[in-house]
Amino acid sequence: MRTQVVIVGAGPSGLLLGQLLHKAGVDAVIVERQSPEYVLSRIRAGVLEQVTLNVLAQAGVDARLKREGLAHTGFDLLFKGERHRIDLAGLTGGQQVMVYGQTEVTRDLMDARQAAGLTTVYSADDVQIHGFDTDHPSVSYTVDGQRHTLDCDYIAGCDGFHGVCRASVPRASIQEYEKVYPFGWLGVLSDTPPVHEELIYVNSPRGFALCSQRSMIRSRYYLQVPLTDKVENWSDDAFWTELRHRLDPEASERLVTGPSIEKSIAPLRSFVTEPMRFGTLFLAGDAAHIVPPTGAKGLNLAATDVKYLSDALIEACVEKSQAGIDHYSTRCLARIWRAERFSWWFTSLMHRFPDQGEIGQKFQEAELDYLVHSEAGARSVAENYVGLPLDFGWKG
Ligand code: APR
Ligand code: PHB
Repeated sequence: MRTQVVIVGAGPSGLLLGQLLHKAGVDAVIVERQSPEYVLSRIRAGVLEQVTLNVLAQAGVDARLKREGLAHTGFDLLFKGERHRIDLAGLTGGQQVMVYGQTEVTRDLMDARQAAGLTTVYSADDVQIHGFDTDHPSVSYTVDGQRHTLDCDYIAGCDGFHGVCRASVPRASIQEYEKVYPFGWLGVLSDTPPVHEELIYVNSPRGFALCSQRSMIRSRYYLQVPLTDKVENWSDDAFWTELRHRLDPEASERLVTGPSIEKSIAPLRSFVTEPMRFGTLFLAGDAAHIVPPTGAKGLNLAATDVKYLSDALIEACVEKSQAGIDHYSTRCLARIWRAERFSWWFTSLMHRFPDQGEIGQKFQEAELDYLVHSEAGARSVAENYVGLPLDFGWKG
């Protein structure tokens, strides 16, 4: 079989790329290791920047998002027992973010791909990529015991942090930057009304907490926990009790608890691959970079990688120009490092580090106090949180 682009991975990056290429008449086949049910079972973040909303609109998958997404013009920082609102819209000339679960974005993309009758190979075993340092790359995989090979012009590595694409690049051709944080996030999803109409990011001497939401009847909460912690150590009651300890009295009083419908612990890391292009192989999304979720940048970075990559591949396949392809990596990395820096900084500010001591807590509280009482400081937080313009760092 032959196609123009083989996309490895049917997460948000792969599905969004497939949709944008389809809209431009470029053929692409997606090869995914897991089942569609497994892909949809993964619970991830849910804050979308305006640039991401624009890309989803271009892909034609924003109808439900417009109906069900929750527009947010600010969020609260809670420290020393008091909440302070960061006025995103007021500080950024009216910009806002949309709260809409990544699972729903993935579902919308899967529905659109199915409706268009496009090919997604699920439950593909032993996926391998070949010849990406030549002009005749291919991807092979096994389904139901049968080995298949897809010849193509380009391979898009949208297969996440643990995927095969980045791992297939010779070590001498790639540089990886990594920082692993000494804690994890214990997340709970519950069919309970959110504790507040906006998100609350908590710096507490007991550790970080985050109050988020998926709708007006479904909430998402996180607690910082030690890396050694296990999800089975946390009953629902223990989770709610600890969350209450980290909240201010008003939020603690308003908190509506209920049974967890999902509970898991995720590690936190900063990770960047340079470059992101290797001949006819292009990495996008988590395959190329990881951010700690504190800044809610993961899906947004994936969306702009995919926007840049789809533009480049459309230019190459339709207009036979290599310009976009040649600039892809540089264009992505300018944006990625800005988001990585903000995510690292916000994570360092809001979490309790094992070796920080009491003075470290005082430094964090002093910085937070500065940020919420300085327009310049608050604007710095707001500008980074709402995200960079699409043409950031692009010199054309
Ligand atoms: N072959 C085929 N598919 C693979 C392989 C492989 N060898 N390895 C992984 N995959 C699939 C995974 O099963 C997954 O469905 O690639 C997909 C990668 O999806 P994600 O990990 O969600 O990455 P991405 O699509 O880039 O989305 C980034 O997800 O993790 C969050 O915070 C992150 O919000 C960001 C978003
Ligand atoms: C979420 O809703 O899952 C979420 C929101 C904001 C973050 C991280 C996660 O910074």
